[in-house]
Amino acid sequence: MNFISYDFNTASPEIDARVEALLSRMTLAEKVGQLVQANLRWRDDLDDQIRQGRVGSLLSLNGAEQINRFQRLAVEESRLGIPLIIGFDVIHGFRTVFPIPIAEACTWDPNLVSQAARVAAMEACVEGIDWIFAPMVDIARDPRWGRIAEGAGEDVFLGCAMARALVVGFQAADLPGGRRIVACPKHYAAYGAAEAGKDYNTVDISERTLRDTYLPPFKAAFDAGAATVMSAFNEIAGVPASANPFLLKTILRETWGWEGVVLSDFDALGELLHHGFAADHREAALRSFNAGVDMDMMGNAFPYHLANLVREDLVEEAQIDSAVRRVLRLKFALGLFEQPYTDPALAAQVQLTDEHREMALEVAQKSMVLLKNEGNLLPLGTDLRTIALIGPLADDHHNPLGCWHARGRDADVESVLDGLRAVLPEEAVLLHVPGCAIEDTTGGSAGADFDAAVSAALAADVAVLVLGEAEMQSGEAHSRAHLGLPGWQQDLLEAVVATGKPVVVVLMAGRPLVLPWMVEHVPAILMAWHGGIRAGRAIADILLGAVAPSGRLVVSFPRSEGQIPIYYGHKSTGRPADSEGVIQFDRRHRSVYLDEASTPQFPFGYGLSYTTFAYSDLQIEASEVTLDGVVVVSAEVANTGDRAGVETVQCYVRDLVGNVTRPVKELKGFQQLTLAPGERRRVRFEIPVRSLGFHNLELRYVVEPGDFRVWIGPNAAEGLQGEFVVKDS
Ligand code: NOJ
Repeated sequence: MNFISYDFNTASPEIDARVEALLSRMTLAEKVGQLVQANLRWRDDLDDQIRQGRVGSLLSLNGAEQINRFQRLAVEESRLGIPLIIGFDVIHGFRTVFPIPIAEACTWDPNLVSQAARVAAMEACVEGIDWIFAPMVDIARDPRWGRIAEGAGEDVFLGCAMARALVVGFQAADLPGGRRIVACPKHYAAYGAAEAGKDYNTVDISERTLRDTYLPPFKAAFDAGAATVMSAFNEIAGVPASANPFLLKTILRETWGWEGVVLSDFDALGELLHHGFAADHREAALRSFNAGVDMDMMGNAFPYHLANLVREDLVEEAQIDSAVRRVLRLKFALGLFEQPYTDPALAAQVQLTDEHREMALEVAQKSMVLLKNEGNLLPLGTDLRTIALIGPLADDHHNPLGCWHARGRDADVESVLDGLRAVLPEEAVLLHVPGCAIEDTTGGSAGADFDAAVSAALAADVAVLVLGEAEMQSGEAHSRAHLGLPGWQQDLLEAVVATGKPVVVVLMAGRPLVLPWMVEHVPAILMAWHGGIRAGRAIADILLGAVAPSGRLVVSFPRSEGQIPIYYGHKSTGRPADSEGVIQFDRRHRSVYLDEASTPQFPFGYGLSYTTFAYSDLQIEASEVTLDGVVVVSAEVANTGDRAGVETVQCYVRDLVGNVTRPVKELKGFQQLTLAPGERRRVRFEIPVRSLGFHNLELRYVVEPGDFRVWIGPNAAEGLQGEFVVKDS
């Protein structure tokens, strides 16, 4: 499917003229009002504030009727009649809830991800939502961080692909009722680099890492047309992102020439006081506005201080005018002046249609990653007579919704039990036992019933355990230090495995988990994430073999928490783990642990299928290329198994010697292909040499002539290898 997205960035003299005409009639107080975003808890006199033109935007409202009511106050009862812009967290679906973003990314299918985003935008816009607070494009390399669930994982190249796909999908041009939606990539910037994986924590990274790793997905989102951005909560090297002139002016406006609206995150300006970056809200307003924030989410600083700061000559009114222009331009481009209201009847026609539910099923099926399948235990034959379905998530109608599930309802969710009942033949027997709760909130083992679980397993041909995290164990403010199974689930698992029956584990979680015992003792493991409303059906389809798993990891799974952060694109160091090292005293000194492997449990890009693929005959078209050239590299990929399967072929590059050190591998391309049994195809990558650059000692983006290594393979840890040289000319 080809996506046409609405282009908010095209210059429009007509809109500019309307903006100027309006601006010239505004008082300073009304101008500041356009820079304020409030929610229902902001102030008791919210209605009056809107009537007086002191609020430009609202967030987190409920439904078309409520939104229309507020719009009426703004349009019909305020002096200038400027409509509000209405924001909402539409993260992975709206009423039709899709898998969480990290799972969507595991499809490695940007087109499908765009389609899911478009469904979300359609369902949201019919409630009067204009502004989607997504995509979260923060690179995340620490699974302790709960918000790893909300992004596309650890990799820059894939992160950029998903950022583009989501923006194009959300800002679709053909939304119902002629409405428009604008996306808001977040959290600008480097929020995912929080120390120790603790949410909101300090970030202290080099400018080079910022530019090479954390900024590119934002740039990709802007290049795809994103017309707003949300500034982050965190500080970077002592300067909070929401009052950071380097991020908000030097990079955004001066380097990238981007002209969209900068919205601060929820009370991020008020939080400058806690950061110790502002003594009071007045100073917070001063430092954040002058740094480049246009709109204050939650309005605790701007509405009370900006006008006075202008009077005191500490803020220039011309700068206020520029920020207001950006907001008004967006409101005109969204068509809000022409069409501020939404027909409440539309929601029932547009939301949760059969077509949307089908798409949720397809995304769920393609997002799940088969981590282990010893002895081809999966797919389970349809001739199985008795299945023990065990675990606290086996018949759960809430947690598959995942964090930030907008208008998702438990009643819409298919559990694994529902899914299996729908696909199993009638004569099959399902013995369902929860076994224990997801978390232990009692401090004891109340509610755990291992005996029933063990009896069910003993009576069955196979035990399927559905284990993992509750939706509230990932997402914002939900970091974890221990990444094993919560509560009594590990004990439950061990009790069932001790029966000697074949065991399959289906994992639902918002992050990679640390599961060394499971990986050693359980023959088949399917990572199902929080898979949305159709999760149960998708899992059943995969378990029974109607669908072959095709998801690939977008984040490395650690063997233990002590390895974190672990990601494939690390630096070599002077004594790499696979080198000779230096012999000193009794051992080789290398960059390794005494008590843990250096490799991940499962690498980035990894995932099994129900068939096997073989890679052969890597060819590099020209082993020497120029700086403005294209590296063409290809390999044969063959389906060597006996059923069709989808393979995600990945291409990685290493720049061997640089003016500054370079990662040991970087993803530079991927392609998905479906191969019939025995079928083989040559997969060809064309990599522009200009995409092989980095920020050098002077922090200039350069591609350096020199030797490069290239791999084509099934994941970041395997692949065929070749070399090429980049020449000056
Ligand atoms: C805070 C979160 O960090 C952000 O992602 C979200 O969009 C806002 N709250 C609004 O709910």
